Amino acid sequence: MPTLVPVTAAAGLAALGYAGVVERNWFALRRFEIPVLPPGTGPLRVLHISDTHLTPGRRRLQSWIRSLDDLDPHLVVNTGDSIAHPQSVRVFLDSLGPLLDRPGVFVLGSNDLYAPEPFNPARYLLGPSSRRCRKKEPDLPWEKLRDGMTAAGWLDLNNQRGHLTVGGLDIAVAGVHDSHIKRDRYAQVAGRAEAGADLRVGVMHSPEPQLLDQFAADGYDLLLAGHTHGGQLCLPWYGTLVTNCGIDRKRARGLHRYPADGQAWLHVSAGLGTSPWAPARFACRPEASLLTLISRDSMVPRDSKVSHDFSVSRDSS
Ligand SMILES: [Fe+2]
Repeated sequence: MPTLVPVTAAAGLAALGYAGVVERNWFALRRFEIPVLPPGTGPLRVLHISDTHLTPGRRRLQSWIRSLDDLDPHLVVNTGDSIAHPQSVRVFLDSLGPLLDRPGVFVLGSNDLYAPEPFNPARYLLGPSSRRCRKKEPDLPWEKLRDGMTAAGWLDLNNQRGHLTVGGLDIAVAGVHDSHIKRDRYAQVAGRAEAGADLRVGVMHSPEPQLLDQFAADGYDLLLAGHTHGGQLCLPWYGTLVTNCGIDRKRARGLHRYPADGQAWLHVSAGLGTSPWAPARFACRPEASLLTLISRDSMVPRDSKVSHDFSVSRDSS
């Protein structure tokens, strides 16, 4: 029995090393096909990035993000938590690089506003992290981050609606700020999504069921969110332990119908980064997703697939 102690300790250290050094930097590109466009249209490539939590030292992550431009997406969607350091705004925008020249939309997450603080990772298992945030005022330069993306022509969807014409398709978009810190104002975007558009997309940071229900009820076809990190520390053959919000474990990442028997599609990104104070991922690789939207009469969507290679206007309302 005493020999089990060093063996267990060695296995624990190996797992920690793997999670913190190997898997945290083992970026995955996930590909999905989603039959959501009108018959006879598409395909439309949407690159979904989220939760990069970028710090200036993460050079491998920066260059991987930059390489995503090779996928030639028609549209880029960023569902927030992009930075984790006061000096990260320029670094994040440089990482996007040529992606900023493409049509894009974004919402912010709590970590774009509040700098990360040390915490006991075990507390993550006890409940949503919003209960741990005690800061009254934002201490990260989120305005510069927002302005950098809007200056490139990306649409700010924090409690706003808008329109995009991309790939010859008219896309109605709406988004909300982060519900995790109670900045979401769905009332400002509420109302029937434009029936005449080719596609209606709802964007949010945290996939709270209450928000998802409202977007789906208003007729949005595709709902995009991040925040969960897919659980970040998962168990093999079991999956996500906690989602850090109201969504259930099974939908903490990937593509699902929403509601389960409904018409909308929900894609939750497991994100590309981690808090600098919890720099590990296990059985939950950091990811970006290429969503290839195809016509509704095309084919049944494929499950999650991992690949290792890999005129904008805002509504006046
Ligand atoms: Fe995050």
